[in-house]
Amino acid sequence: MKTPKRLQSLLEEGLIDGVARQLMSGKEAMVFVVRCGDETRCAKVYKEATHRSFRQAVDYTENRKVKNSRQARAMAKGTRFGKEAQEAAWQSAEVDALYRLAAAGVRVPRPYNFHDGVLLMELVADEHGAAAPRLNDVELTPEQARAHHATLITEVVRMLCAGVVHGDLSEFNILLGADGPVIIDLPQAVDAAGNNHAQRMLLRDVANLRGFFGRFAPELLATDYGHEIWSLYQRGVLSPEVALTGRFEHRHRPADVQGVMREIDDARAEESARRLRLQTAG
Ligand SMILES: Nc1ncnc2c1ncn2[C@@H]1O[C@H](COP(=O)(O)OP(=O)(O)O)[C@@H](O)[C@H]1O
Ligand SMILES: [Mg+2]
Repeated sequence: MKTPKRLQSLLEEGLIDGVARQLMSGKEAMVFVVRCGDETRCAKVYKEATHRSFRQAVDYTENRKVKNSRQARAMAKGTRFGKEAQEAAWQSAEVDALYRLAAAGVRVPRPYNFHDGVLLMELVADEHGAAAPRLNDVELTPEQARAHHATLITEVVRMLCAGVVHGDLSEFNILLGADGPVIIDLPQAVDAAGNNHAQRMLLRDVANLRGFFGRFAPELLATDYGHEIWSLYQRGVLSPEVALTGRFEHRHRPADVQGVMREIDDARAEESARRLRLQTAG
């Protein structure tokens, strides 16, 4: 096909040798099948912010690290420079997440390059070499559903162990490649430790998996892997090897009033010690 404008510079730079066709255009990007030497790869062209909208909510960008304070101030004020910085942060977040997750052993498309707002990555293929279908487009037997669900729960655990919550995990963002499920579409991925919404997002991601695979294997609908995973993570004992049960007891423990009082006393003691030091110093 004729090379789309946004891919022209990649052609000129020799990063790609031609464009074969356009894959489905999603909400926030256009995805093309491209040729690189004798390999076929995939190019994700991010739409401009004005054509996106819904995922760029505050909770996703909270605590996203920016390089300097001028950039941070501009982003907060929404100046043009700020918008550009925000845009760049959004796009590179996906590249960062892909490298981080690949290193952690999560099955994601292998990233090759990020140039001019275009992410060049491995084309996830089915057993015939064609672009892999999304989970949403396939019918599964109960056995397949159980197996893929188990695989993906382990992937979610691996991601969390690498400090990442996907944030938009669903049957629309998982491809069924020749070697099994592959997780895609990560620009909104959040930092598990630094984001107040991480828990809620993780629970939603896991609930999406349960809802989808539960259609084929209804017994999955009774599981609660999300709370179990988050609780292990919070206690610092989550690892990809941990044996999960899919059950979680929601205990409503009485508040630990004594513990809180102890902490207040400690803080008071520390503060008077500090004042004493200041007095003697002055
Ligand atoms: N690496 C890939 N290999 C094969 N197909 C892909 C790949 N990345 C994206 N796609 C296809 O492009 C579609 C849109 O990509 P996605 O990353 O989900 O962007 P969007 O934000 O637009 O949803 C996907 O649903 C999938 O069909
Ligand atoms: Mg998508």
